[in-house]
Amino acid sequence: MLIGTPLAANATRVMLLGAGELGKEVIIALQRLGVETIAVDRYPNAPGQQVAHRAHVIDMTDGAALRALVEAERPALIVPEIEAIATDALLAIEADGLAEVIPTARAAQLTMNREGIRRLAAEELGLPTSRYAFASSLDELRAAAADIGFPCFVKPVMSSSGKGQSRVTDAGDIERAWQYAQDAGRVREARVIVEAQVPFEYEITLLTVRSRGVYGAIETAFCEPIGHRQVQGDYVESWQPQPMGEAAFARARDIAGRITAALGGRGIFGVELFVRGDEVWFSEVSPRPHDTGLVTLVSQRLSEFELHARAILGLPVEVDLQTPAASAVIYGQIEAAGIAFAGVDEALRIPGTDIRLFGKPQAFPRRRMGVALARADDIELARQRARDAAARVRPVGPGA
Ligand SMILES: Nc1ncnc2c1ncn2[C@@H]1O[C@H](COP(=O)(O)OP(=O)(O)O)[C@@H](O)[C@H]1O
Ligand SMILES: [Mg+2]
Repeated sequence: MLIGTPLAANATRVMLLGAGELGKEVIIALQRLGVETIAVDRYPNAPGQQVAHRAHVIDMTDGAALRALVEAERPALIVPEIEAIATDALLAIEADGLAEVIPTARAAQLTMNREGIRRLAAEELGLPTSRYAFASSLDELRAAAADIGFPCFVKPVMSSSGKGQSRVTDAGDIERAWQYAQDAGRVREARVIVEAQVPFEYEITLLTVRSRGVYGAIETAFCEPIGHRQVQGDYVESWQPQPMGEAAFARARDIAGRITAALGGRGIFGVELFVRGDEVWFSEVSPRPHDTGLVTLVSQRLSEFELHARAILGLPVEVDLQTPAASAVIYGQIEAAGIAFAGVDEALRIPGTDIRLFGKPQAFPRRRMGVALARADDIELARQRARDAAARVRPVGPGA
């Protein structure tokens, strides 16, 4: 594919659906390759919109609005950054040859629903997963949880970032978990998945890139495993490489290779896996850069965002690690619009560190507003530096 001149008639236009911190980095990577970028989000001044050529605010779950925007902008590629999108409209856009959806419209549709991706992974591909069941009512949930056993996890089938998700330890807790899932589910879809708790030692994100090889065939490459720590279903810190045994890593690559091949297309995928000894379980997969992969901004020569940009444009990739590194999330801590950040200078005085502030217009206590990144010769020191740097950045009110 030729890359044209931005804002000229031959421009290579790419539309990001969702323009948060991950989309912002993808846009920057695309712009460095001379791509014209269009950032779409549901609120104005989203991080990616601040760096794109053009920005649009629409409800991306509104298929007609999405279609109209694509017809007006005529992007070559549509790159979903979030899950909550009218995927039926994406399927139609792809079928009509209006634009190419990354990695494919079907992948976007399957992965936005925990049921679609779980059935594909466990029932069609036979990948190891937690035991699971689905329920569409409180009574069905009671029966499903009794069958799966405790502790288990209850999650809305349409949700992400731990929203509406509970760990349930006994039958007395089920009604609360059901209610919580109903309140937080992304759409009014009264359906949940119940998963048995996997007794993992650690969990990883295996960034997997499908890109075009020399002879045009798709090649699959695997980054070094990323370890991470989750609190209430949201990532708090990540590091790369996560040390793991040869056999477990080989299994992880096999699982990631199979699920991404089944989803197809080009681009990066974040494959979430649970590991204990040589055992590996598939958890879920995002057909896009992964939040825990922010660490690759300093650990790899090509970050996950640059890898995504290259792969979707049909360009070759290189996934090698340069140095151990870690990331630690900087939270909003306060609820206010237009906050400021104190202590960035103190944070950057720690050797090997870097900071990203996403520029989100509105803060709330648990909102991810930035990330501290750190390199070191070993992971422990990198994690320590990233955590210390994140702790030195203090959100303050807009008047400060
Ligand atoms: N079946 C499970 N067994 C053990 N831990 C789990 C299970 N499901 C979820 N978790 C924990 O909760 C985190 C978030 O769950 P996940 O399914 O990835 O939700 P989300 O789509 O919101 O990221 C996981 O990274 C893991 O730490
Ligand atoms: Mg997850």
